[in-house]
Amino acid sequence: MRGYPEDVFNGRPVIGICNTWSELTPCNAHFRDLAERVKRGVWEAGGFPVEFPVMSLGESNLRPTAMIFRNLVSMDVEESIRANPIDGVVLLCGCDKTVPALIMGAASCDLPTLVVSGGPMLNGKFRGADIGSGTDLWKFSEEVKAGAMSLPMFREAEVCMSRSSGHCMSMGTASSLACMVEALGLGLPQNAAIPAVDSRRSVLAHKAGRRIVEMVGEDLRISRIVTRNAFENAIRVNAAVGGSTNVVIHSLAIAGRVGVQLSLDDWDRLGREISTIVNLMPSGRFLMEDFYYAGGLPAVLRVLGETNQLHRDCLTVNGKTIWENSKDAPNWNPEVIRSLDRPVAANGGMAILRGNLAPNGAVLKPSAASPHLFRHRGPAVTFANIEDYNRRIADPDLAVDEDSILVLKNCGPCGYPGMAEVGNMGLPAKLLQRGVKDMIRISDARMSGTAYGTVVLHVAPEAAVGGPLALVRDGDLIELDLEARKLHLDVSEEELALRRAEWRKPEPAMKGGYQSLYIERVLQADKGADFDFLVGCRGAGIPRESH
Ligand code: FES
Repeated sequence: MRGYPEDVFNGRPVIGICNTWSELTPCNAHFRDLAERVKRGVWEAGGFPVEFPVMSLGESNLRPTAMIFRNLVSMDVEESIRANPIDGVVLLCGCDKTVPALIMGAASCDLPTLVVSGGPMLNGKFRGADIGSGTDLWKFSEEVKAGAMSLPMFREAEVCMSRSSGHCMSMGTASSLACMVEALGLGLPQNAAIPAVDSRRSVLAHKAGRRIVEMVGEDLRISRIVTRNAFENAIRVNAAVGGSTNVVIHSLAIAGRVGVQLSLDDWDRLGREISTIVNLMPSGRFLMEDFYYAGGLPAVLRVLGETNQLHRDCLTVNGKTIWENSKDAPNWNPEVIRSLDRPVAANGGMAILRGNLAPNGAVLKPSAASPHLFRHRGPAVTFANIEDYNRRIADPDLAVDEDSILVLKNCGPCGYPGMAEVGNMGLPAKLLQRGVKDMIRISDARMSGTAYGTVVLHVAPEAAVGGPLALVRDGDLIELDLEARKLHLDVSEEELALRRAEWRKPEPAMKGGYQSLYIERVLQADKGADFDFLVGCRGAGIPRESH
């Protein structure tokens, strides 16, 4: 290696630091400093750190959607690790898709692996109140549409929302995935919640550098940590923290890489009994900075462990079990981390809906939905795709009222490659102006983890491959019954068969290049939307030529 004394490698494990730093990914813009902290720890523990870049995925800039590149980045990570002489790897993860992409890639190599998350931004502060990424943005944009907020005030709020390094600080997808990382045992204790700019984040990165060297010595590979039981812990934790629907899809993809059988039904079964006790937006009131000061994820793990809702013996990257890491964790603020007898929501888990409209499942987050819509039957107002929705939703003549069900088609993995976060369709302005706050919305799309509403997502199979969603017409009655986990299209089988015969596959939204590969090989949402040829662990053991 150029520039190093020749004895520097003697007995030193080579530690790759996989960096998603990019000025195009504001959430990860502080990762160069974070990488330096990791390196200090690696040197100190007798390793040789090498930082390497992979494509970065920023939610705010990437078009058509960052999700289309998740699988591409996972390949970048996997092949970068396998092709280089790396003994262990630290993954620097922050903005939403950088988390699953890096873990998926590393999992397919199965080396000792430790995740250092970038940490959330400080709380947003606007006119004397705390405001949360995404959640308040959605709220304010509806207020603008309803005429209750001016555009200059909206812009001022936006600036006040993002005032430090770090990722979105509500319990959106990035925070939920950071909690997943800690719950899986892939991060050191408190990895999820320490704010990006808190000096304790630097200390954690430094310690991670030390620890990965030990992990190589112990041959503590990712497959020993990310087990079936670890996923069960992560599902329960997602319910307890009021986490994002996106964790469902990413967890299925990660499980596929390590060969763990995980299904949508596991999400429903394991989360059903769990109450949301973390009082964070969008389900609650506070933000990640408050969560850390209240005790962070260890305090939540302790509650789950004390009530038999945690596999206590799961191993974590620090060599201890998850229970050893959390059994004495304090809760400094019972308003932020509630007790089980005073939860934020009793039904914290994800509801997996099935029926003739979603034979392979659909996802709804009850804690973000409106109880008066948990059981509802209403007429469909359909949109052929997102362009059709954008064109017509503001039309004052659109035949829609608060009992209608908005149905958006062709936004699934193939229909809108990458399955954009458009499932939480904004309500028609004329209904907002009348004070309507929520309606049932159904689509094969995803939604931002910061969003809320009675939104049925990830309908599988999607419309673009001929799923029943494609057959819904205006005025069809649809029945949602959350308790029964039912999503039913009240149209006869005969009529559906006629419609199916008339259905024509839509032209692909994009042609050529990576987008074509994506459309051809992506799996449906209920399988994690990974590429079929990437599922599984291929190991790091390709014989290397000597140099
Ligand atoms: Fe990066 Fe929200 S935009 S985490």
